Amino acid sequence: MPRIRTIDDLAPGGKRAVVRVDLNVPVENGEVRDTTRIDRIVPGLRELLKAGAALILLAHFERPGGKVVPGMSLRVVVPALAKALGLDVGFIATDWRDGAAPRAAAAAQPGHVLLMENTRFHPGEEANDKEFAKLLASLGEIYINDAFSAAHRAHASTEGIAHFLPSAAGRSMQAELGALERALEKPVRPLTAIVGGAKVSSKLDLLANLIAKVDTLIIGGAMANTFLASEGANVGKSLYEPDLLATARRIMNDAKAGNCTLLLPADASLASELKANVSSRLAILDDVRSDEMILDIGPDTIAAVNSVLDRSATLVWNGPFGAFEVKPFDRGTLAVARHAAELTRRGALVSIAGGGDTVAALNEAGVAQDLTYVSTAGGAFLEWLEGKTLPGVKVLQS
Ligand code: 3PG
Repeated sequence: MPRIRTIDDLAPGGKRAVVRVDLNVPVENGEVRDTTRIDRIVPGLRELLKAGAALILLAHFERPGGKVVPGMSLRVVVPALAKALGLDVGFIATDWRDGAAPRAAAAAQPGHVLLMENTRFHPGEEANDKEFAKLLASLGEIYINDAFSAAHRAHASTEGIAHFLPSAAGRSMQAELGALERALEKPVRPLTAIVGGAKVSSKLDLLANLIAKVDTLIIGGAMANTFLASEGANVGKSLYEPDLLATARRIMNDAKAGNCTLLLPADASLASELKANVSSRLAILDDVRSDEMILDIGPDTIAAVNSVLDRSATLVWNGPFGAFEVKPFDRGTLAVARHAAELTRRGALVSIAGGGDTVAALNEAGVAQDLTYVSTAGGAFLEWLEGKTLPGVKVLQS
């Protein structure tokens, strides 16, 4: 990977730093429900403040589509951000046409933190419009992007602006890229990937990229059903993609040709409907009845996956094994999460996980803090696993 510029390449002291952060956090009843993304950026922001910078924070919130949508104002995150920083945070309400942002930024003093209104209230943000990027750049003297989770978007505040100011990655983006590099670019082998989730169709590029890089690819979730069906198994009324059977077969052949071992479920937890605490049974996968659905991996598969992990040095994980949000179909995912955490604690495994469902499953298992690195990025993590160059990262490389 080319070198990424960091805060060490800028001299932030006494400067107004425009810092792109990701404050697209879950909000419920007017309050931030999960502060993980906020907590991750705090140390980097404190470092900049300590160096004597004034911080002009840019962020998006949800998808207002280029117009002012009062229900999507970033004002809602100010209390949580101020609490996490232990500082006052000034909020600048603006429609980006009224001149409020440049006026407030020009008056910012070292140690001040100003959060600007949702950048997506202006159509120039998502269009990566040059004039809007220049307006954002005019708010400061240096630009720092600390929002890896938005780096797959070539927007004015994530890409365009970097062409008009000395720019670098913030500390949390730097940590995220370091962890990802450790996972796929320079991994200690054997390297294993777990890919779960519902659809093969949404993860085709990801599977193709991983097959070329990992030693073992473990497939879970409903997407495994498509692979099982492509081998002729009866998957009953399980979710699967009948039009992708040939694609699944091709992926399996490519894996074989590339010396990548592919592990599919061998047994499963089955039920006639997906409902909490519904009656379920365990069976091997050639014994699925037509009125049954595969909803989780069974004990033999859990043991097989855990034994692959025992022999792995690095793990990359995206996607749960079963319908983990409905009990008891969370068992497989939780068991593997706990085993990966135990190996990581013992120093036997470098484990990197990402994606909303995966993080939720790790939290439910109570082990998110035990993995080597848990990415807070959703789409950006997936695009990175697909081997794509993220525009918000590329522009910070020298
Ligand atoms: C996210 O929540 O994954 C990022 O903030 C990106 O949001 P977006 O998918 O609306 O661009």
